Amino acid sequence: MKTYIGVDVGGTGIKTGLVDDEGRILYKTTKPTEVERGFKEVIGDVCDSIIELLNRARKEELAEPEYIGLGVPGTVDAEKGIVIYAPNLFWENISVKEAISDKINLPVFMDNDANSAAVGEKIWGAGRGISNFVCITLGTGVGAGIIINDKLYRGTFNNAGEVGHITILRDGPQCNCGKKGCLETLVAAPALVKKGIDALKNEKDTLIRDLTLGEPIRVNAKVIFDAAKMGDRVAMDIVKEMAYYLGMGIAGIVNILDPAAIIIGGGVAAAGNFLLSLVEEGFREHCFNRNGRIAKVLLAKLGNDAGIMGAAALGMI
Ligand code: BGC
Ligand code: NA
Ligand code: ZN
Repeated sequence: MKTYIGVDVGGTGIKTGLVDDEGRILYKTTKPTEVERGFKEVIGDVCDSIIELLNRARKEELAEPEYIGLGVPGTVDAEKGIVIYAPNLFWENISVKEAISDKINLPVFMDNDANSAAVGEKIWGAGRGISNFVCITLGTGVGAGIIINDKLYRGTFNNAGEVGHITILRDGPQCNCGKKGCLETLVAAPALVKKGIDALKNEKDTLIRDLTLGEPIRVNAKVIFDAAKMGDRVAMDIVKEMAYYLGMGIAGIVNILDPAAIIIGGGVAAAGNFLLSLVEEGFREHCFNRNGRIAKVLLAKLGNDAGIMGAAALGMI
């Protein structure tokens, strides 16, 4: 049995796992990402987590991991091992690979978090056996990994798949990237939360209030989907609008790449088939294709641990 270490360096948490060659997570650690302490400290925490798992593997007499894989939410130069720009981490031009290699003697692979998730789905998840697909990650941000001819497509300047920053609505909500109306501002979790909180203020009769005891801090994407599934009209309007925009975004991707499948993952995709059925409408409406032979929209299979597993799979493609 071979083993790998996968690290998901998120804006809020560092999740590290020891993964085997069948995609099972053997051990896992989680630490908060203390961005404000600066990149050296965060990379120090990443190294500590990795070392903890290496010790664990030795203690259990497991095979020494083949390599370390890291997924990072931003633009990554995978070849050089540099994070070019990760706005949520406040990182710019950081030589992450070198910093890790200074402390740990294992090969290091690094890529964008959504690219990593796509690779994980390709090796162990919904993308198995599919040569051309796009895996969209819906969470705090929206990203995508593009698989063409069984390979990850990174683009010329490492920015391929930045679908969260396609402009969908002129003068729409402000995005963290500095622009307005990006897909991310309309379909990512913070957009749903904002609308849920507005509904608490403006709507008398909504299950969102019952599910949160009227406390804005309790509003999250799951609450909105749960209320919508229970038939709440206010929540349903929020979800329908979000799904429609997501369908538009997907149609744009399909019109460019004509993949066999679009795979939807990330925390928001936990809404499952309910979300998929609503996405279909906006997708079909904005798609060029009329002969019925068109990309299937599928749910990701790796769930909560997709970040770790995708990172662990980075050396396999
Ligand atoms: C970033 C992407 C990232 C995505 C998901 C977006 O805001 O630009 O690089 O993949 O969020 O974390
Ligand atoms: Na990407
Ligand atoms: Zn943007």
